[in-house]
Amino acid sequence: MKRSEINRNIRETIRFIDEMKFKLPPFAYWTPESWKNKGTEYDEIRQNQLGWDLTDFGSGDFDKTGLFLFTIRNGNLYNPACKKNYAEKILIVNPGQVTPYHYHKNKMEDIINRGGNGVLNVQVYSSLNERELDKKSPVPVAVDGRNYQVDPGTVVKLSSGESITLFQGVFHQFWSDDAKLLLGEVSMVNDDHQDNFFLEERGRFPAVEEDEKPLFLLVSDYSR
Ligand SMILES: [Fe+2]
Repeated sequence: MKRSEINRNIRETIRFIDEMKFKLPPFAYWTPESWKNKGTEYDEIRQNQLGWDLTDFGSGDFDKTGLFLFTIRNGNLYNPACKKNYAEKILIVNPGQVTPYHYHKNKMEDIINRGGNGVLNVQVYSSLNERELDKKSPVPVAVDGRNYQVDPGTVVKLSSGESITLFQGVFHQFWSDDAKLLLGEVSMVNDDHQDNFFLEERGRFPAVEEDEKPLFLLVSDYSR
């Protein structure tokens, strides 16, 4: 993705998050320049990949297959010194934009429709293996304290305020039909390097074409 496109998306997203009256932590607004003065006491942000995150899942078409995220807190499975075993993110979904089928082996997550006055569609299947939907078995879900099973391929519809628990091994894809949505994600530790199993071969972090300076760093920029 072009950096100019990423910058434009971040600007739009900040406006939307403001409209939703959601507040991000201060590090959301640290410039690349000010990052240079942030010492090791901020390593949790870098190492646990907190902050702006945007992906087109390798599709080359962010508007159709993509997701904008901000990780507010996270643990770190590779750092025993990190005691945090939970994570929180917000996700911004544009109308018609799909997050494609994937599941997690380690992470159990709740996806919450927090704002935007629209319906979030979450389609679920159990998994036969990393690359195969189980088209026969019922799928266990929990929706706001109601634990039940749905038919394979069911689209669970979540109105504002509603949430779904996605258990390990449950394939999920999600999208919004007609409203821009602010979603929350509350989960176990998030590991985007090892724990996303996509039904189709996908990339998780975009290759960036530097056609202008970054407005803010993405989590994938920290190591660069
Ligand atoms: Fe997921």
